[in-house]
Amino acid sequence: MKNNLSTAVFPYFFDLNDNHTQHLHPLMISKKKSLKAELFNKKASDPKNEAVIVLEALGLNQGQVVADIGSGGGYFTFLFAKSVGEGGKVFAIDTNLDFLEFVKTNAEEKGLTNIETVVATNEKPLLLKKSVDLVFMRNVCHHIQNREAYFRRLRDVLNPDGRVAIVEYRGGAGFSFHSLFGHSVPKETIVKEMRAAGYRLEKDSDFLPEQSFTLFSP
Ligand SMILES: C[S@@+](CC[C@H](N)C(=O)[O-])C[C@H]1O[C@@H](n2cnc3c(N)ncnc32)[C@H](O)[C@@H]1O
Repeated sequence: MKNNLSTAVFPYFFDLNDNHTQHLHPLMISKKKSLKAELFNKKASDPKNEAVIVLEALGLNQGQVVADIGSGGGYFTFLFAKSVGEGGKVFAIDTNLDFLEFVKTNAEEKGLTNIETVVATNEKPLLLKKSVDLVFMRNVCHHIQNREAYFRRLRDVLNPDGRVAIVEYRGGAGFSFHSLFGHSVPKETIVKEMRAAGYRLEKDSDFLPEQSFTLFSP
């Protein structure tokens, strides 16, 4: 059955991420999406993805505000929520409403009260100006079209001493699943685009086996 209601209300939503889900019953879509969200979290929690070192590299403090853009299943959203504490806030931001619902339900189950889910458009996260200390984008860059313009717009939401952390599959010359399907952006490209958007590279670390970790300030 074609899910006309969902596609009418969120015209870009399914097209952007998962075209074929339009043909499923809404309940099947939710189940399928939450399975996908769970899969994202399972992958993010794999020891090789070094979540603890990523957290250390970000150096978050209590009371800070984080925007997890492309939050998926929210694995990092939940870690950030604990790092910034009740005085801080984490915006879980995604174009996919089912993922956001998944994060919201899980945050409630975990008793995390400092997480707010925010719908993103493909052009920008819907956040207030100068409201965020850290923007975090893990495995999301390859989804963003016209990244330089996107990164430039992102500057608006950062506090003056805010930062942007990008974790992204490196891709590269050799064969890999991620480069084969365009699910990667070389680090050099990210740095070039971020510089063109007016950012300064603050940190460039190679502790992840498959991804680059870069940290920028405006
Ligand atoms: C590969 S998943 C990564 C999820 C999560 N960051 C993680 O590391 O587990 C990419 C996520 O980015 C979201 N996404 C795609 N385009 C986006 C956009 N323009 N703005 C915000 N989120 C987007 C997808 O819906 C998906 O949840």
